[in-house]
Amino acid sequence: MYNSSITGLGYYVPDNIITNNDLTQWMDTNDEWIQERTGIKERRWIDPKTDDTTSSMGAKAAKIAIERAGLTKDDIDFIIFATLSPDMYFPGGGVRVQDMLGMPTIGALDIRNQCSGFIYALSVADQFIKTGMYKNILVIGSENHSGGLDRSTRGRGVTVIFGDGAGAAVLSRSEEEGKGILSSHLHAEGKHANELALAGPSTGRWIPEIMEANDPEDISYFPYMNGQFVFKHAVVRFSEAIVEGLKANNLEKEDIDMLIPHQANLRIAQFIQKKFGLADDKVYNNIQKYGNTTAASVIIALTEAWEEGKINRGDLVVLAAFGSGFTWGSVVLRW
Ligand code: ACO
Repeated sequence: MYNSSITGLGYYVPDNIITNNDLTQWMDTNDEWIQERTGIKERRWIDPKTDDTTSSMGAKAAKIAIERAGLTKDDIDFIIFATLSPDMYFPGGGVRVQDMLGMPTIGALDIRNQCSGFIYALSVADQFIKTGMYKNILVIGSENHSGGLDRSTRGRGVTVIFGDGAGAAVLSRSEEEGKGILSSHLHAEGKHANELALAGPSTGRWIPEIMEANDPEDISYFPYMNGQFVFKHAVVRFSEAIVEGLKANNLEKEDIDMLIPHQANLRIAQFIQKKFGLADDKVYNNIQKYGNTTAASVIIALTEAWEEGKINRGDLVVLAAFGSGFTWGSVVLRW
């Protein structure tokens, strides 16, 4: 068995900044409500005049990660792409990134696990590397939320939260004992699938059916979220996932050097920070700038924390996420 460690990190966010005040041109909301309930000050939304898409943002982040790993595109053996907002209903984003980066006929896999997508993707990549099947895997999380949000007041409880962006990591085979991914822990509870979902278009609700019904009340093509229900489950599951990761490695909460929580809501992250008694410099948050970028959130935050020198060799880093599905999980790494 081999070990796997992150050798390259990169992220890309669109230039177009949408502040909380900017949102008031579309809906009845205000900066105070958004900041107080979520911590978000602004987010990036793709400018439709640009050629940014879920896949192209993923490819831009991937290029940076590959370069920082000291590799070229030809060294990558496999692609794992996590998103809930693919460019097309099918095929997924992995094959599109492969084409955009001019990669050979390596395999490409898409992960559909929303906010936990990057955690799932990293865990799958880790298994492929541990067994010796691949040496270098490109793991991407990318989202284009802005194209599919309800910008009217009706959608404000969901729309103000989400932002666009992408992050990527190269996970590589390592012979160094005790370094890299120590363990990953994945969970799901499908009975709550409808509490945070986008129901149509889908095979249960095809576009011709929606068009034929021509029902102005039908908003099944916008995301639905039972916010308070999701919040209550999130704080419990985040904690469980972190505890599980620590226990699996005989570690204590005091051993955590950096916790990167999925950026769903600053209040959730602060609750977790307090519960685990972590100092401010041991939890990284950037939801203030980017909102919730779902599958991209953990990897963008990890990349920024690393770029800012907040993660150093030997540090114990814990990644944790919770989201639609419900799905949740954690990854414990020794940097
Ligand atoms: N601006 C102003 N008022 C608003 C807005 C807004 N943008 N949105 C909602 N309100 C109003 C509501 O209409 C409601 O008014 P009322 O009391 O008159 O009916 C009031 O504010 C309270 O609304 P709630 O929805 O109860 O607000 P809450 O405090 O629960 O905050 C939030 C909402 C921020 C969505 C919170 O519930 C949350 O963060 N939930 C968890 C999100 C999460 O973790 N998601 C998982 C990841 S996402 C993924 O997997 C895709």
